Amino acid sequence: MTFTADASDLAARQPSADGCVPRHVAIIMDGNGRWAKARGLPRTEGHRRGAEVIRRIVQRSIETGVETLTLFSFSSENWSRPPSEVSYLLGLLRRFVRTDLANLHKNGVRVRVIGAREGLASDIRALLEEAERLTCENTALTLVVAFNYGSRQELVDAVRRLADDVAAGTLDPQAICSEAITERLYTADIPDPDLIIRTSGEQRLSNFLLWQAAYAEFYFEPALWPDYDEAAFDKALAAYAKRERRFGRVSSQVAP
Ligand code: IPE
Ligand code: IPE
Ligand code: MG
Repeated sequence: MTFTADASDLAARQPSADGCVPRHVAIIMDGNGRWAKARGLPRTEGHRRGAEVIRRIVQRSIETGVETLTLFSFSSENWSRPPSEVSYLLGLLRRFVRTDLANLHKNGVRVRVIGAREGLASDIRALLEEAERLTCENTALTLVVAFNYGSRQELVDAVRRLADDVAAGTLDPQAICSEAITERLYTADIPDPDLIIRTSGEQRLSNFLLWQAAYAEFYFEPALWPDYDEAAFDKALAAYAKRERRFGRVSSQVAP
């Protein structure tokens, strides 16, 4: 894999159509299985091809000036897939970190992993920790890998930690506010997503970033993930640039 941009190329970044680039894009990479099925291939072949698309979209994110790219790679519910598919996906994660980490680092990508570490094999945990440690000072792009991620479990864990703090007497229940929850999530140091893209035509969140998506813009892409490419990504960024985000306020066009 080759990335052409690195941290020193920041000045060469191309803004999207009207310059309004989402700071944080999160993608639900869906449709690998259907892509393979349509070709008479095993589902795992769809996952293998899907991993190749990741490299291209990471590169395009750097070029367009996206600061954070979150990729939903494996959900806490995906454990209920056939064991052979689960073990292929775990192997794919191992291979991805082993083969791509040096290049990601060279290109200024900071890797962050969100999701439950419990339940992951110790070698995978070590690989993920190594990826985070090695790249922690990089600034070209933050790549957030959501692996063994489930938003409800993340919220349950945050609430438990709040309860522990209250029980320990270090937190007044009256002081519990939205920030108190935000700072106890896996994403405490990551801004909320501005744009959530889901491929394969499905229009649901599937337990992804439920809290963080409160004011995200959604973009549903019909292409299956293995067919996704830079042009499709650019199209989503261009659509985002035309959206008006109001955050509950009155539109600037509608004077009170
Ligand atoms: C997304 O593709 C990858 C993962 C969920 C790991 P799918 O495997 O869900 O593909 P479809 O939705 O069955 O086509
Ligand atoms: C969501 O896709 C999880 C990932 C993309 C990793 P799924 O394919 O698992 O979601 P559902 O089952 O269609 O809701
Ligand atoms: Mg799916």
